[in-house]
Amino acid sequence: MTGLKKQSYWRSVYRRYGDAERTGRKFLVAEADGRVVGFVIGEVRDWEFGSPPCGWVFAIDVRPDSRLAGVGARLLEAICTSFQRAGVRKVRTLLARDNTLILSFFRSQGMMAGPFIPLEMDLGT
Ligand SMILES: CC(C)(COP(=O)(O)OP(=O)(O)OC[C@H]1O[C@@H](n2cnc3c(N)ncnc32)[C@H](O)[C@@H]1OP(=O)(O)O)[C@@H](O)C(=O)NCCC(=O)NCCS
Repeated sequence: MTGLKKQSYWRSVYRRYGDAERTGRKFLVAEADGRVVGFVIGEVRDWEFGSPPCGWVFAIDVRPDSRLAGVGARLLEAICTSFQRAGVRKVRTLLARDNTLILSFFRSQGMMAGPFIPLEMDLGT
């Protein structure tokens, strides 16, 4: 997406999420004609503010030449099903404010603005 190679980052993501034996963590891929065309990564997370644990979608991506064919929707549905099986009743995610594509996608799947807002500040060097 960004054009930056982040091999060690993705290796560590794979180590953390790719182990199906670890409960609550999911790394699902979509296959078509024997090749991977998309993935979704997520986990069941504890949550504060008196809310119970929820499903968290950490990343979702479909190969550009496989988009607009329902792959993303099926990936999201599959991870939501696994969250439901894990006993949670809510799914959340975070996205860049200017990423209208991913916003359109999540909105089309029924996700809406939630009651929490992200805050940040620079900590200097
Ligand atoms: C967002 C993304 C995962 C969608 O995958 P996809 O397989 O193309 O999505 P689907 O075909 O399942 O589309 C489902 C719905 O999403 C919406 N949608 C998908 N692409 C869209 C687009 N380009 N413009 C507007 N709406 C779009 C539509 O409502 C669509 O339903 P419809 O086809 O009935 O109109 C894919 O475009 C992608 O990988 N984008 C870049 C990755 C990214 O930015 N990830 C976020 C960081 S984690």
